[in-house]
Amino acid sequence: MPDTAPKISIDQLVDIVNNGGKVRTGVDIFNKQGRLILEKDVLVTDAIPLLNVKKFGIGVIPIVNAGAGGMWDKDGNSIESPASFTPAKAAPTSEIDRRINEISEIRTAASQKYEKARGCIKNVLTSIQDNGGHFDFAPIEDTVSGLFAFISQNDNAFSYLTREIFSYDDYLYNHSINVCTIGTVVLKKFAEKFGAAVNKRLHNSMADSGEPDGIQFRKCFTAREMRDISIGFFMHDIGKILVDKEVLNKEGKLTADEFEIVKEHSLSKGPELFAKNSIDNPFICKIGRLHHARLFNDEKRCYPADVNPADIPSCVKICKLADIYDAMTSRRVYKEAMNPVGVVADIFHKYAHKDNLLQLILHAFVEAVGIYPPGSVVSLTNGQAAYVFDGRGPVLIPITDTDGQPLNTKQDIMVLDKSAAARGLEIDRRKPPLTPVAAHKIMPAYLKKSLYL
Ligand SMILES: [Fe+2]
Ligand SMILES: [Fe+2]
Repeated sequence: MPDTAPKISIDQLVDIVNNGGKVRTGVDIFNKQGRLILEKDVLVTDAIPLLNVKKFGIGVIPIVNAGAGGMWDKDGNSIESPASFTPAKAAPTSEIDRRINEISEIRTAASQKYEKARGCIKNVLTSIQDNGGHFDFAPIEDTVSGLFAFISQNDNAFSYLTREIFSYDDYLYNHSINVCTIGTVVLKKFAEKFGAAVNKRLHNSMADSGEPDGIQFRKCFTAREMRDISIGFFMHDIGKILVDKEVLNKEGKLTADEFEIVKEHSLSKGPELFAKNSIDNPFICKIGRLHHARLFNDEKRCYPADVNPADIPSCVKICKLADIYDAMTSRRVYKEAMNPVGVVADIFHKYAHKDNLLQLILHAFVEAVGIYPPGSVVSLTNGQAAYVFDGRGPVLIPITDTDGQPLNTKQDIMVLDKSAAARGLEIDRRKPPLTPVAAHKIMPAYLKKSLYL
């Protein structure tokens, strides 16, 4: 059947789903390395899974127009030929147009997921305030499951969203979602890359010590456990809703008393809320209570103080890195957002070479977030500033000339591969990365329009 199935271009399929339609291939799609990248039974309702296939250099895929497979318009009518969905908009004519369109599609889908998640966490926190600490857990499971599935299709999708740099409001909502999405990508990379190797080593050491196989050192998580950990990331700061907002938003250094108040969010308020709502999942509870604990012996301002870094579960360590990354890259009442490029470097330097498990987590973190996260702005050795389309390459679009003056016309895409390095063109690591606000000021209008709002 797959051999005779009509081959349809990904662009046409994207048009169908963007017009409210649905697509199901009816046949598994593999990349050139034989990895399954789109399952035959998945009902595709947005562009992400299709753009994900395209990222592997696949321009057309078979659609089995029988059984479960097929294409349908927004009213559910079967589409025999996608010709009627020829895009109303002009087809992209250049690589840069193609990239901008692609990222614009990803941003739209990510934005919708983000808004749904914001609604969920807002309801939970409002319910805690209005109903004596009680909230409904089912919508959280549903929302995080949706985020988890979405991230599986495109692990970079959320890094293109930059809205928080324009808003002082709703930090806790955004932070909960950001830690969940960033942490989940790190968790997946960690489990993929290191699960088997680390499990073997730790299994041996635990067998030696007679230690029970608790959650402490688990790497090969089941799908259910991974989702529970994601829920833990989503709810990690839930106790903050019961902490004085003036203290949380205070500009400048906290007094010793104020720091004690902030600490309550994870030490007592969060655990009380979990208990009140009969949430006893060990992943969720440990993440909530321990996500500010020390990751190495001399780390300062960590709590609870009496927990040995070696006893902190890997999922909690991942939460802490995601938490720090988001806190530093987000704009707050009292500080500007920092450029993610510098933040990744800071986190790496702070936590590198402390212990083996943390080192593996750190590598998964850098791989997940990227040394040059998509959506960030970097300086090049020739003096230009450039927007990162894709951290792998990296693939960039210059936004200034070599004198730092804004470029308002579309430029050619740059790929900083080995041949660029041989010509002396690289990312300039000596220059401090631009803050998001500074980057926004020099961003060409055509990019702002497609990629920022
Ligand atoms: Fe926290
Ligand atoms: Fe946090």
